[in-house]
Amino acid sequence: MGIETSCDDSAVAIVSKDRQMIAQAQNSQILDHQAFGGVVPEIAARSHLSILPQLIEKVLHGANMTLRDVDAFAATCGPGLIGGVHVGANVGKTLALSTGKPFLAINHLAAHALTARLTDADLSFPYLLLLTSGGHCQMMIVRDPWTYELLGQTLDDAAGEAFDKVGRLMGFTYPAGPAMEKAAQAGDPSAFDLPRPLLHHPDHPYDFSFSGLKTAARQLIDRHNIKRDTQACADLCASFQEAVSDLFCHRVSRALTWVKKEKMLIRAFVLSGGVAANQKIRQDLEKVCEKHGHRFVAPPPSLCTDNGVMIAWNGIEVMTHQNGPTSDLDFRPCPRWPLETLRNRTP
Ligand code: KG4
Ligand code: ZN
Repeated sequence: MGIETSCDDSAVAIVSKDRQMIAQAQNSQILDHQAFGGVVPEIAARSHLSILPQLIEKVLHGANMTLRDVDAFAATCGPGLIGGVHVGANVGKTLALSTGKPFLAINHLAAHALTARLTDADLSFPYLLLLTSGGHCQMMIVRDPWTYELLGQTLDDAAGEAFDKVGRLMGFTYPAGPAMEKAAQAGDPSAFDLPRPLLHHPDHPYDFSFSGLKTAARQLIDRHNIKRDTQACADLCASFQEAVSDLFCHRVSRALTWVKKEKMLIRAFVLSGGVAANQKIRQDLEKVCEKHGHRFVAPPPSLCTDNGVMIAWNGIEVMTHQNGPTSDLDFRPCPRWPLETLRNRTP
């Protein structure tokens, strides 16, 4: 069983070793936070606390199982909003203690990074990964469930965060990414000339920067008084999405060239995290992979954004690769837990 509470989604799922998503239940807190324009940590933690028992009952019912039939309990233990993380971790530990089954402390980013291995049984290590969500934007080589080599990351905002902030200025509610993608379908991606920050900076070949792009978009929104549900808004959404996609394509293309030059073995390129739900970004990156002769893999959009399945699957990865049950009952949840340190098993 996987339990996810790191941000504004409470999610529980049961997944089996043979890759069956047996049952899932999820509660989005979007409406609880909408009036505040972002996620309020205290409200999120309280909401996770009140909803988790119902979600757990729902998945057990959906799976036709009792708690005793569950082999292990996995919960996100970081990174994330620490109040919510504590709620999920304590619920998972309690269930593990009361049933005598192992508790597995899951790194939320690792769960995003490994989801593609659930939905694509042929995906083996190592692979190049672009993890792009509301809180993170990183490019890494994934060697096994614990070993992540950082190639580059954002120097300021995460891509999802940039979508959310720009969208908010035009009147979109949080999270703005999905609605902006929809609006972009009626827009002209060349309507506004937006910058591609950091693209040719010699010191940051694989890093990202979105703050300059965000500022340029804000200036256009102010200057043209762009509001939601207008043609100008559709054009700006399309131009912004195009700029983000260009930045990703440039970085991934450069990384794949480097991989080839170094004669490094990678089995695929994997796109993951909430922004990976974006069809335009998926299609553009798929073309880059085709050009370089690499396989493009991305989980289905519903598993790109936060969910319980990815936490349960990461638990299975841990148990499989360690050859047997383990327990992290004494694990201390942490708001920051970089993937590069995962090997040490402590944040
Ligand atoms: O992975 P996720 O659910 O939560 C974090 O771990 O951050 O990612 C949420 C982020 C939000 O910023 C949201 O706006 C963005 O992913 N997002 C999208 C799309 N769907 C979600 N951004 C662009 N296009 C989308 N279709
Ligand atoms: Zn996430």
